[in-house]
Amino acid sequence: MNAPDQYGVVGHPISHSWSPFIHGLFAKQTDQLINYRLYDIAPEHFRAQVLEFFTRGGRGLNVTVPHKEAAAELANALTERADRAGAVNTLILNADHVLLGDNTDGHGLVTDLRKNLGLNVTNERLLILGAGGATRGVVEPLLALNPSELVIANRTADRAINLASLFSDLGPVRGCGFAEIGHEAFDIVINATAAGLSGSVPNIAGSVIGRHTVCYDMSYSRSATPFVTWAVEQGCAHAHKGWGMLVEQAAESFTLWRGVRPDTGPVLAALGIK
Ligand code: ATR
Repeated sequence: MNAPDQYGVVGHPISHSWSPFIHGLFAKQTDQLINYRLYDIAPEHFRAQVLEFFTRGGRGLNVTVPHKEAAAELANALTERADRAGAVNTLILNADHVLLGDNTDGHGLVTDLRKNLGLNVTNERLLILGAGGATRGVVEPLLALNPSELVIANRTADRAINLASLFSDLGPVRGCGFAEIGHEAFDIVINATAAGLSGSVPNIAGSVIGRHTVCYDMSYSRSATPFVTWAVEQGCAHAHKGWGMLVEQAAESFTLWRGVRPDTGPVLAALGIK
């Protein structure tokens, strides 16, 4: 019998990750022989340990907080969407030994918003909180849906302003600090900050949430995330955790690695989402 091909997810922290569970279900469903592990790697060891994983025969890695931008620098080649994002959440060692970086986050978020949650983004006002690797991956696909406005707001204003300027040719996008968001309620508010990892919520005015506002936290946990709890307290219409995005981006990564697309429906059902 062949040995399983090695995959995994690298992050810091990473113990909360459900990616091994999801990829395990995908592998079973599609008859693929793979092993998928968690790798907790601190930023100073990221480059050396990722290269070691691949030189030892590893086939692919998912990359999460805080390494997505470092992974884009490490890759030998980038897909168009990863290049535009300047962030990578999926690494694959190709047959010709080129380490290719892709970004499946945008596909994951947009598929969850539209297909799983049935949300309309076109002509809607969107607010995205955070300007790190998680945000970078989703700006282009969100603008492709033609929102009336996309505001990127970040604790460190300059990062959001710089990020927005990289995408300004694609649609109505503006970057700002939390204090400059304005007070009008948005249609959709997405949390892409890492604040939840330390149990906190971005320090923004509750007035950006109205009774019609749908809130989406890219973070996920079995219990309510701090952002979801806060959004419900502000009186939003709905608040969703990022389970669906997690499953959909994983399916896109799995397809890239194995050449076969898994059905996300049974996995969403196993997680109690569908
Ligand atoms: P990721 O790849 O997940 O985006 P990252 O590049 O480290 O990780 O970015 C983390 C994001 O979360 C940043 O936008 C960060 O804000 P700063 O740029 O000001 O550091 C944001 N963030 C982290 N902790 C936060 C907190 N407690 N409140 C608000 N924003 C926070």
